[in-house]
Amino acid sequence: MLTINDKVIAIIKKYNGERGQLVSILQDIQAEYFYLPEEALIQVSKTMGIPESRVYDVATFFKAFSLKPRGRHIIDVCLGTACHVRGGVRVLETIERRLSIKRGETTEDSKFTLETVNCMGCCAVGPAVKIDGEYYGHMSTDKVNDLLAKFE
Ligand code: FES
Repeated sequence: MLTINDKVIAIIKKYNGERGQLVSILQDIQAEYFYLPEEALIQVSKTMGIPESRVYDVATFFKAFSLKPRGRHIIDVCLGTACHVRGGVRVLETIERRLSIKRGETTEDSKFTLETVNCMGCCAVGPAVKIDGEYYGHMSTDKVNDLLAKFE
């Protein structure tokens, strides 16, 4: 099995080690591990000759990157006003209980990361939930089990 360092070196090679490709390289690493492990960032710095501080600057600048372990499926529950008044919090609490995690956390089996957002632009179908970029509207506590089952 390839180590993190082997994987990172292979990804960097794919981009010919070009420094201008740093964001793409970090994207590929995140696609592999669902987050950016510290060991990987150090390896990027060493292999590409970019100061660690610069690699971290880029890794923390983009919201899409995470330095904390994340699950294979990212759940966003909308708590914007329109979704909130239609029961967004109850949907969130039901998912929290179902997965035994709180918002901002990842399940122990690394299957799900649960996050909240403030409006995702589909207020008319609130309460809304997004999983892996796909929107699910008119959510209710009753629908949570069926929805999560699609990913199990
Ligand atoms: S408030 Fe939830 S989508 Fe706008």
